[in-house]
Amino acid sequence: MYGLVNRAIEQLVVSLRGQEGWRRVCRQADWPDEGFVAMQTYDDGVTYRLVGAVSQELGMPPADVLRAFGEYWILYTADEGYGDMLTMCGSDLRSFLEGMNHMHARMEATMPHIRPPHFRVEDGANGEMLLHYESERDGLAPMVEGLIVGLGRRFGQAVEVHHRHPRTPTHPVDVFEVRPLP
Ligand code: HEM
Repeated sequence: MYGLVNRAIEQLVVSLRGQEGWRRVCRQADWPDEGFVAMQTYDDGVTYRLVGAVSQELGMPPADVLRAFGEYWILYTADEGYGDMLTMCGSDLRSFLEGMNHMHARMEATMPHIRPPHFRVEDGANGEMLLHYESERDGLAPMVEGLIVGLGRRFGQAVEVHHRHPRTPTHPVDVFEVRPLP
């Protein structure tokens, strides 16, 4: 993945545990503490190793680290020069999610090697929104939960997210149920 993602993990850890905490994470992940170049691609394995090491550092399961990271990503990208892109993508949660594929596609201009996920929004039977998430990567569904919560916060809308259907080998699409909270 692009270094921008790994840099965000670094910033999250530094904000919670300081530079010393980040140094421990790097040691644990067997990765040199030299920083990441935002526009350079790194092997996905680096990101997964970092998530595992952060999980040890924070004493929480990797899925919770990914949830926290998803929430943080919304704040981080807004601060890192992508605020306009976020603003242009939509002014409420639903329209934003509907514009996500287009937004990631536009990034190909500056990030030609990006392999973004694909989303589809559908109405559920009981007023909930169903978000279909497709990715060539495994294990990132909790990150999507955090992203939705973080986006909800950006739009002043608290939401409850339930992972309704995990992907299967024959149907590699995760489905999330998103309900606005009063
Ligand atoms: C302007 C803000 C954003 C930027 C700059 C951005 C950029 C990126 C980049 C560079 C990657 C790594 C992919 C790669 O290197 O191949 C990525 C992955 C990802 N993005 Fe975005 N993104 C943004 C917002 C969002 C939002 C709001 C969502 C949530 C709906 C989202 C969902 C994801 C997911 C789930 C991945 C993980 C990769 C995967 O599932 O395969 N992104 N994004």
